[in-house]
Amino acid sequence: MDRQAVTIAIDGPVAAGKGTLARRLAARYGYAYLDTGSLYRAVGAKVLRQGGDPDDAAVAAGAARSLTDRDLAAPDLRSEAVGLAASKVAAIPEVRAALLDYQRRFAAQPPDGKPGAVLDGRDIGTVVCPAAPVKLFVTASDEIRARRRHRELLDRGENASFEQVLADLRRRDAQDSARNTAPLKPAPDAHLLDTSNLDIEAAVAAAVDIVAATLKP
Ligand code: DC
Repeated sequence: MDRQAVTIAIDGPVAAGKGTLARRLAARYGYAYLDTGSLYRAVGAKVLRQGGDPDDAAVAAGAARSLTDRDLAAPDLRSEAVGLAASKVAAIPEVRAALLDYQRRFAAQPPDGKPGAVLDGRDIGTVVCPAAPVKLFVTASDEIRARRRHRELLDRGENASFEQVLADLRRRDAQDSARNTAPLKPAPDAHLLDTSNLDIEAAVAAAVDIVAATLKP
């Protein structure tokens, strides 16, 4: 029988550094990487493109059930507008249900026969992969996350003020934490990693220490 694939679950709020950490851990261990936020972003972007309302459950669930590779590669997925729409569609239980199987399959059978997968999002350790042997909950202060996110947007040529980015980030965190279905919260067995005072290398080193200690035979 094939060995069971190892799952590293990484959750946390907007711009805490989950994506960078997840990519680096996946590269280090030869695991596949899934940015689950991009699924919700693709649903949000699809609804906006159709001129629909991201709060409309029927429209959003229809978009989630008919997602294509083209939707997942849409050029505007990282924009602020799509991020806010993603947070709205993510509160709709039918949308979450439509995306669940894909995420679980990715974790159980990572592509290209890889021996494990790193998934990042909001509910990986609590709902998608509650049995994951390694769970990280990555945080940083609001101001530091907004500063990182603001720099990222400016680097991409998007026009945004720091105050606006901070307000959007707080709004999105509040929506993601307050929803009834799969809210943003650490799993009881998650390791908390505060990256407020860590640069990328230090954050990766801290995460590798946690993974090594947890997966130790
Ligand atoms: O990680 P991100 O900013 O790209 O995610 C976009 C939105 O998608 C986020 O505001 C909440 C939602 N999301 C979620 O509800 N569950 C996940 N596993 C991943 C993202």
